Amino acid sequence: MTQTGQPQPYYLGDNPSRPVPFDGVMTVSHYIMPNFATMDWHQVPREKVIENIHSLQDPGGNLNDRIMMYIHVPYCKSFCHYCNFNRFHYPKQDSERLERYTDYLIKEIDWYMRQPYVREREFTAVYVGGGSPSTLPTSAVERLSEHLSKVVPNFDSIEKSFTGEPRTLRRPGLLDVLKDHGWNRITFGIETLNEKIHRKIGRLDTREDVDAVFDRMRSLGYTADTCVDMMYDLPGQTLEGFQDELSELLTCYDPSEIDLFTTIYLPYRPLHKLIMDGRVEQPGSPWQLLAMREHLYDTLSAAGYHNTIAETWSKRPEPSQYQTAHCARQDIIGVGCAARGNVRDMVSINPEKVDDWQRNVDEQGASTETLQSIGYEGVLDRIMVMFPRYKSLEKELLADYAARIDEDAFERVRAVLDGHLAAGVIDDEGDRFTVTKLGVIWHGNLQTDYLRHTLNTKGEVLMNHLTEARQDFDNENRFDVTPETVFIKEHDAEYPRLMK
Ligand SMILES: C[S@@+](CC[C@H](N)C(=O)[O-])C[C@H]1O[C@@H](n2cnc3c(N)ncnc32)[C@H](O)[C@@H]1O
Ligand code: SF4
Repeated sequence: MTQTGQPQPYYLGDNPSRPVPFDGVMTVSHYIMPNFATMDWHQVPREKVIENIHSLQDPGGNLNDRIMMYIHVPYCKSFCHYCNFNRFHYPKQDSERLERYTDYLIKEIDWYMRQPYVREREFTAVYVGGGSPSTLPTSAVERLSEHLSKVVPNFDSIEKSFTGEPRTLRRPGLLDVLKDHGWNRITFGIETLNEKIHRKIGRLDTREDVDAVFDRMRSLGYTADTCVDMMYDLPGQTLEGFQDELSELLTCYDPSEIDLFTTIYLPYRPLHKLIMDGRVEQPGSPWQLLAMREHLYDTLSAAGYHNTIAETWSKRPEPSQYQTAHCARQDIIGVGCAARGNVRDMVSINPEKVDDWQRNVDEQGASTETLQSIGYEGVLDRIMVMFPRYKSLEKELLADYAARIDEDAFERVRAVLDGHLAAGVIDDEGDRFTVTKLGVIWHGNLQTDYLRHTLNTKGEVLMNHLTEARQDFDNENRFDVTPETVFIKEHDAEYPRLMK
């Protein structure tokens, strides 16, 4: 404690204590890691998919009562240099293609809404993510919204998020339609308020686009939550620069929710390549990265935001329904190309390419070719990997899985948990375990500990690449050609793209 009674900062100030509870710091937030680096997404024979769907119809096996729908729109007006999401170029001359994409979304939604295992559950949320769904023609957004309001029984009262990039979100009429149809969370990327860095990472929207979105919402009297994505540990970004950006964000925009992501430099996405070629500077040292994480924790807590999940700061005290689903605490069905679903003990991913996805919707109703069981042990793995993000783990839930799974598998989980307790990154609060401030700063490491045994070779290599080793914390150079970067480049096509 300092003399003022404030906890001693870890990485900030003139004389930081700089605890390093792990061998290196992870630069990734595992928001989709369990599906990203652990599974070989093999196709399952069609008969097996049908059998799996059939088994889901029995309500007796449900692990969660609630369910939400994620809808993926894979188009962007332009591509940002850092991004590894599933996205395709916005077809400028062919708005018909986007209308057709929407027709297929509606078809796949209808298939799911006919299934008892979906229809008979309590719906909590619909999330339209991407890519940038704001590239859809306004008429398509209107059709999709109207359709959802007809088929999702409680559509009026649930959480409804719609994602955009600022320059297409501001298009005349779009926010009006979203308001009219009750979308109550509007999410979009700002990433950085530093114009120079913004250009370097390949974002083509401008500050004026961001202003226009906030202004239009204000003039419409549109009171939906504004949820913005920001990135840090960016090329050339200093701690002071980041501190200024954060205070400017609060002063100018006062968003309802802020997601703050450590920049993930994936080989050889354009940003990684630009740095390797010396055309863009490197980010600062891992010490600076840790100081940024602590600064945002302290500043946003003091500004009245709740750290609802590890990388999210919200004016609301509770996590959004979408985040709850993403943290494996409720089921999720995935509609659209590349969308993922997690229902009961089954996981699935839809085809990544639009044509394959549409063909499957035509032929099968639901596009998935991968629906498969990961068993109770797999479900517990998902819950544990997401616990450091979700920040809370009820002991009752853990006991429930202890009774369902193999003793050795449970002991492995328990050993990691005990190690985290000893390291001071989680606390025992009686009926639950919670993540401490130090644990939030290191949450990617905590997640990796729970993930490690499930990694395949691709995942293992990726995790190694995304770790800044302790002995290198003072090195100037964070970007070298290494066996990991070469391997990832060679196997690029086998790494699934992300969705949000
Ligand atoms: C689907 S986009 C957000 C909406 C919209 N497409 C946009 O960019 O404005 C997903 C968000 O994930 C984050 N993201 C994507 N790639 C990332 C990376 N390599 N490192 C860190 N964050 C990343 C960015 O904050 C990005 O805005
Ligand atoms: S960050 Fe957003 S706008 Fe940029 S390429 Fe990725 S999904 Fe598209």
